[in-house]
Amino acid sequence: MEYQIILIGCGTVGQGFLEILDRKAELLRDVYKFEPKVIAITDMLKGSLLAPDGIQLKKLLEVLKAGKKLNDYPGPKEKTEDYLDPIDLIEQVEADILAEVTYTDIKTGEPATSYIKKALRTGKHVVTSNKGPAALHYHELKELAHLNQRHFRIEGTVMSGTPVFHLFETGLAGNEIREVKGILNGTTNFILSQMELEEMEYDEALKLAQELGYAEADPTADVEGFDAVAKVVILANAIMRGKIKPDEVNRQGISTLRKQQIIEAREAGLRYKLIARVKKVNNHIEASVTPEKLPLTDPLAGVMGAQNALTFDTDLLGKVTIQGAGAGRLETGFSILSDMLAISKSGKN
Ligand SMILES: NC(=O)c1ccc[n+]([C@@H]2O[C@H](COP(=O)([O-])OP(=O)(O)OC[C@H]3O[C@@H](n4cnc5c(N)ncnc54)[C@H](OP(=O)(O)O)[C@@H]3O)[C@@H](O)[C@H]2O)c1
Repeated sequence: MEYQIILIGCGTVGQGFLEILDRKAELLRDVYKFEPKVIAITDMLKGSLLAPDGIQLKKLLEVLKAGKKLNDYPGPKEKTEDYLDPIDLIEQVEADILAEVTYTDIKTGEPATSYIKKALRTGKHVVTSNKGPAALHYHELKELAHLNQRHFRIEGTVMSGTPVFHLFETGLAGNEIREVKGILNGTTNFILSQMELEEMEYDEALKLAQELGYAEADPTADVEGFDAVAKVVILANAIMRGKIKPDEVNRQGISTLRKQQIIEAREAGLRYKLIARVKKVNNHIEASVTPEKLPLTDPLAGVMGAQNALTFDTDLLGKVTIQGAGAGRLETGFSILSDMLAISKSGKN
């Protein structure tokens, strides 16, 4: 079945997604009966492109690779202004799915939340990897999607394309989830791994993470736990049916940990990890992000480097752990595809 797609944001994830669609077109059509047709893209930096007959992705990817703008696409297209406001675009263009991959604002969730609402109200399914709307407005957006008989899907918001929500919805369906706990930030896990394996001080490990591109110039969101807080709130609300806000999460980062503490833990057979945890306590949901010393027998203790992992504690299966990428161009681009395939499988066009 053909799906017309609007893409808002054409950076790392947006381009990763387009590359996957291009590479996998045959497989998607033949095996999954999914025929995506990207008809509109808008991006603050790269401008806009409208092509109602479908964008030839290979040609567009070449244009983007050359550092040019969307408007430089050589195929058939409508004349557009340099940058079309996403709200106008969503309102004016008829499409089946909006892929929203603009930047995350964890304080307001905007402007992405407005784009998502506009899309749902104009009859489009929404897929996003943006943590802001999912962490701050999950129930409202789910309800709006339900009222409009559309999907609102968020696989890429936690652990990129590693199938956290797909596992919860399909493989684990029917279980009661008592607790989820995980390593949801690759940067801090990389730093802790370096501090232990290479016996580095925190500042040295952070510097290396910055040099390798794992940490940003301002690392606060990662090292003080704010990024993991956004993800744990999403898990609390989407998986544990909580209604919590980021400021209700007990948060402590890793910036005060010293090499000595990590070595002492190692000598005691323990390993420090920044653990994001959500559990039910007397019918209410508690969430935290704090450094914890795990025994080496815990599957999360074996997760080293920039990887992520999550353990579901279920009533029927016991503990189930998945490990995988937490970020990346193709990894997060894949999350957008996997949500679209779920929409396609549900038969809702
Ligand atoms: N990269 C990952 O591995 C990863 C993993 C999980 C989740 N995510 C999430 O996925 C989203 C996209 O990430 P990314 O890595 O692709 O970011 P990115 O490379 O910065 O790309 C975002 C693109 O969206 C554009 N943009 C920002 N605000 C916009 C707006 N209001 N309207 C239209 N375009 C807008 C940006 O333009 P400007 O540069 O001009 O702002 C940029 O080109 C983020 O919310 C991120 O948190 C990313």
